[in-house]
Amino acid sequence: MTSKTSGGFERDVEDFTRGTRAVVVLPDQGGSPRDADARLEETAGLALAIGVEVVRRIAFRVRAPKPATLIGSGQVEQLAEMVRDEGLGLAVFDASLTPIQQRNLETAMGCKVIDRTGLILEIFGERARTAEGRLQVELAHLDYQAGRLVRSWTHLERQRGGFGFLGGPGETQIEADRRLIRDRMARLRRELEQVSRTRGLHRERRQRAPWPVIALVGYTNAGKSTLFNRLSGAHVMAENLLFATLDPTLRQIGLPGIDKAILSDTVGFVSELPTQLVAAFKATLEEVVSADLLVHVRDVAHPDSAAQKADVEGVLADIGVEEATPRIEAWNKLDLLGDDARAELLGEAARRDDVVAISALTGEGVGDLLGAISARLTAGHQRYTITLDAGDGAGAAWLHQHGEVLDRTVEGESAVYEVRLAPADYERFVVRTV
Ligand code: GTP
Repeated sequence: MTSKTSGGFERDVEDFTRGTRAVVVLPDQGGSPRDADARLEETAGLALAIGVEVVRRIAFRVRAPKPATLIGSGQVEQLAEMVRDEGLGLAVFDASLTPIQQRNLETAMGCKVIDRTGLILEIFGERARTAEGRLQVELAHLDYQAGRLVRSWTHLERQRGGFGFLGGPGETQIEADRRLIRDRMARLRRELEQVSRTRGLHRERRQRAPWPVIALVGYTNAGKSTLFNRLSGAHVMAENLLFATLDPTLRQIGLPGIDKAILSDTVGFVSELPTQLVAAFKATLEEVVSADLLVHVRDVAHPDSAAQKADVEGVLADIGVEEATPRIEAWNKLDLLGDDARAELLGEAARRDDVVAISALTGEGVGDLLGAISARLTAGHQRYTITLDAGDGAGAAWLHQHGEVLDRTVEGESAVYEVRLAPADYERFVVRTV
């Protein structure tokens, strides 16, 4: 979206946040199981993700939420003073604000205000990596704007000394803006239909390839991208280019006993995902629903690690991931723990076969994680003895590609293989050789 400045230069309206000095505000209404400091930290982290410079963080206890401003008038004054003294351009509220509250706070504080939905919209806008994700985010953004149109317009009219709340040119303008938004949304929906048809084709093509798909999921900042790069970095091959151009969040990786697997990175999860964003979020998670295995990356050094886990699992259930889909938890950031906590976690991880403790940063435990992934993916595999003609190169290649060759002995004209294979692959192989 662009607008003309008086000098005639086009500037990106959505770029208003870049480099802006900001305060992060947590109106703490009680009842949240999350630690206030950790929430401020998370929101500041999200704000950083859109290029804002967070210079202050502040939590307010809100006993009785005010319909006009959510927080109390003394608190608003305190913020206004801070905005003036420190030259802040933005206040990020870790809460859901009504359009009226947003407008009132902007007027009283003299700076732009965005709430959690607005912030996440900005981030999804920057992060949406697939065509479908981008369209979904734009749709969500328009939806969010449409809901705010009437009041934010009258608010501007009033500031400009316009004609009051309703009627007059403002009203006509609102109607025109509304129609523009409606038309754009209708066009986006048509494009989305087209894109999801194309995506369906890509998926179908991949499903025909006999490679398992492993999806990394996890709360924002858990370390998914760091792990994704570590797992895929050593195995970048020419074929990867295909996936990289189709979708930069897919990589091919090699695993013990499995010829090839596809690793898929996903956008980070956050708590209290705004409803307007659920569709956009789901579009970025299509791979997850059809994955053969989920690796849930958890930041075990985070004070809210347990609540984050519950959030992620809630979202997985919401988007239709089946209970039966195999899962492994990667307990990440082991390097940040003190000796006692570390020993305790390592002990628990050792007792469970669905948990591996790692540090994506240092690489500790990552080999074990690869082993656990393989073990899960090949859990139903069985050991077979298969005899081939010694010269059957194609047959031997097939066995190497689909299974884990444990042993090979040559007896005269024959080669005898001991192989671990999925029973279905064994059936297929037997049919091929009959
Ligand atoms: P989103 O993109 O927000 O979903 O985050 P993500 O889950 O992809 O996390 P990312 O890989 O971007 O890591 C977040 C931060 O944690 C970065 O600063 C990483 O360097 C750091 N990090 C990741 N893994 C580790 C780890 O094992 N130890 C330590 N100390 N830091 C880590």
